[in-house]
Amino acid sequence: MTTHALAAHDDRGDGPPVVLIHSFPLDRRMWEPQIGSLSAAGFRVLSMDLPGFGATPLPSHTDPSLDVYCDAVQGVLDHLGVKRCTLVGLSLGGYVALRLASRGLDPIDALVLADTRAGGDSPAVRAGRLVNLSLVRGRGTVALIEKMVPHLLAASTGEGARSRVRSIGGAQSPEGVSFALLAMRDREDATPTLAGLGVPALLIVGEHDAITPPAEMRAFADALPDARLVELPGCGHLSSMEAPDGFNDALIEFLSRVYGVPRH
Ligand code: MLT
Repeated sequence: MTTHALAAHDDRGDGPPVVLIHSFPLDRRMWEPQIGSLSAAGFRVLSMDLPGFGATPLPSHTDPSLDVYCDAVQGVLDHLGVKRCTLVGLSLGGYVALRLASRGLDPIDALVLADTRAGGDSPAVRAGRLVNLSLVRGRGTVALIEKMVPHLLAASTGEGARSRVRSIGGAQSPEGVSFALLAMRDREDATPTLAGLGVPALLIVGEHDAITPPAEMRAFADALPDARLVELPGCGHLSSMEAPDGFNDALIEFLSRVYGVPRH
């Protein structure tokens, strides 16, 4: 395990722990629409900034890898004495959740994987990472998020979520974003691990997700032993921010089945 500073995190509510892992290039503030609802429904909600995002520094002298993010999540859980939890990851957060599961973070009660994939980068996506790397190094994170927004959000998504994505994404450091681009590009294909994931899983996808489209998420769900897929109408890749009510309903319904916690 890489030694690094404890990741900046929030810990809200009481009940079974639910760990929210953010997407690229955002930070834990993206989960603001989920935290109040989940804690009111009887769950302890943990969220953290992955290294290089938000208020968590990158470890020095460390090569880009998803394991750096996994170590940070594990570090927060160890610090808080959390012994078992459900992992919820959106896109990059999903890559991290799957990697934690395949590394044997034990025990995971359940997985929620939103707008994400198990496979590694295709050659075209790998090439795109380098284009984005030179964009962020040359012109900064605001330029990158402006380029990304039309792909991240559905055309019909309102100004509130749109400006939230711009402001969180544009505030990230070029170093953290560059590290993430390389970590995602070089991540392993997690597909071979799926059949062995013996925990219940909920997959969520936005109807208009242009990055991890519903058809791909359906195949992903089919490859898991115990998964159901919920497609949220009218939203894109950032479904938790674009359609928070539908996202929270699906999540709380699933968690309540896993834990038997009554809905308030
Ligand atoms: C994300 O939303 O985290 C990104 O789309 C992940 C990626 O670029 O692979």
